[in-house]
Amino acid sequence: MDDTPRTRPPALGALHAGADRLAFAMSCEDRTGSLLATLAASKPGGRLLELGTGVGVGAAWLLHGMTADASLLSVEMNPDVQAVAARHLGDDPRLTLTVASADRWLDTYSGPPFDLAYVDCRPGKFHRLGDLLGFLRPGALYVVDDLLPQATWPDDHQPRVDRFLADTPEQPNIQSTTLCWASGLMVAVRR
Ligand SMILES: C[S@@+](CC[C@H](N)C(=O)[O-])C[C@H]1O[C@@H](n2cnc3c(N)ncnc32)[C@H](O)[C@@H]1O
Repeated sequence: MDDTPRTRPPALGALHAGADRLAFAMSCEDRTGSLLATLAASKPGGRLLELGTGVGVGAAWLLHGMTADASLLSVEMNPDVQAVAARHLGDDPRLTLTVASADRWLDTYSGPPFDLAYVDCRPGKFHRLGDLLGFLRPGALYVVDDLLPQATWPDDHQPRVDRFLADTPEQPNIQSTTLCWASGLMVAVRR
């Protein structure tokens, strides 16, 4: 079986070129992106959230799967990397890019709940998971990747991931599945 995605978002080449120019090596891989697009397609008209935009590769895949009336809010603390996403995806009216620390965003968000959250930075994943889940409506999807060892991890990161993998399935308000596939994923549904 070849699980290489057959279709890719048109902006992907430009986004990866922008990442190379910034020596940014943390974009999601194609198989993860394809799963994100598939899950995004399951939420017609949905409100989607990404914490940790990077250069916009994950956002491009989410937009690829979303319906025309869905929306995506993507939060990133580094304006230089998010500027790449703004350059190549910014014309899409479904996308709102916000420069902010995810902790600050979690402290201040007061809008309607989300139908899907792709959490790709520490807040909402390795800490403050409960706060993030509080912003999801029942039935919403919660997706994280990079749970298998990555070359970019700092030395002290493995115990953080181990705790997440041990504790998250015990949360009473989500049903989760871990996948030893691509970079290592968890897909969960908010009960
Ligand atoms: C793994 S990369 C994101 C990749 C992107 N989601 C994708 O799928 O291509 C993580 C990003 O989160 C950002 N980040 C890290 N900590 C953050 C925080 N506390 N608040 C907001 N962004 C953060 C980093 O600057 C980095 O761009």
